Amino acid sequence: NQYMEIRAIAEANKKDVWEIPQNNLLVHENHILGNGAFANVYKGTIIGKVPLFVVNNSLNLALERESDTQYEAAIKRLPAHADEQNHREFFHEIEFMKKLGYHTHVISMLGCVSNPFEPLIVVEYCEKGDLLKFLRRHKDCYQAHKDHDCHGEAEFCLRVKDLVSIAWQVTDGMSYLHSKNFIHRDLAARNILLTRNMTAKIGDFGLCRYADSALYTTRGGRFPIKWMALESLKLYEFSLKTDVWSFGVFLFELFTMGDVPYPTIQPTEMIDHLEAGNRLSQPTKCPNEIYELMKLTWSESPESRPEFNELRSEFTNMLNLED
Ligand code: ADE
Repeated sequence: NQYMEIRAIAEANKKDVWEIPQNNLLVHENHILGNGAFANVYKGTIIGKVPLFVVNNSLNLALERESDTQYEAAIKRLPAHADEQNHREFFHEIEFMKKLGYHTHVISMLGCVSNPFEPLIVVEYCEKGDLLKFLRRHKDCYQAHKDHDCHGEAEFCLRVKDLVSIAWQVTDGMSYLHSKNFIHRDLAARNILLTRNMTAKIGDFGLCRYADSALYTTRGGRFPIKWMALESLKLYEFSLKTDVWSFGVFLFELFTMGDVPYPTIQPTEMIDHLEAGNRLSQPTKCPNEIYELMKLTWSESPESRPEFNELRSEFTNMLNLED
């Protein structure tokens, strides 16, 4: 009937808001931004007149508009060997990103290609790439001596305050995700991206899930063992509070400028290691008050771990005090 027809058209049009015609995308095959087990990320360009959710920085709003200028993007694509399960998860990620909405500290999708054979996710491009590589590249620039030349780039003489600012931005983005009841499940320095002006954005929603009621449990699949809370390792339970634990491990990466957590412990030994009460030790250049927060995020009981709102307040205070 006519009503159904109109609804179908409306549905199709709604999809068009996100859909980018493949011809309007240039994937720079030789400019690889990241290679993961489940996806490859390439530098790309959006060309021609396409509807885009373009972020208007001055207003902090995502605006829907037509763009006929070239637009830089990062394009995520399934690897050649991807199986049916990988495809399903990729489409799950597309649908998830449509619901995400815009937030300064969360990577947003500009559009997608939902061609069943070669689906693509097009997201904001972050010029400075992922935070883990950035930290490792600038390891000798953290709290360096005044006459250290920072590879000629004075802006990268990172001080404690710069790292606290990154931590604050991540708690801000995570507060947003949690306010929508999204569990990230893969919070780690490798999944934080940095823009040209050092804005940190939470990325990679491949493992993100909606926390409907109590606990999201899952078996199988590959998980980031050393970032996982004890109950996730033991019972495959994920919650808003397991993201908080991962954030503590993230802080360890941040204040060590990219060290690998628990380098001497085998993944299979992690449960015993944590159950015996062991935790990551205080990085040498990490302020005591931040290590106190880290220890709270690794409380055995999830209820004792702080929420991201509270963590954000703590970092807000630290940033004000240091001015
Ligand atoms: N690596 C992975 N995602 C990226 C992005 N959005 N921008 C830049 N580098 C990336």
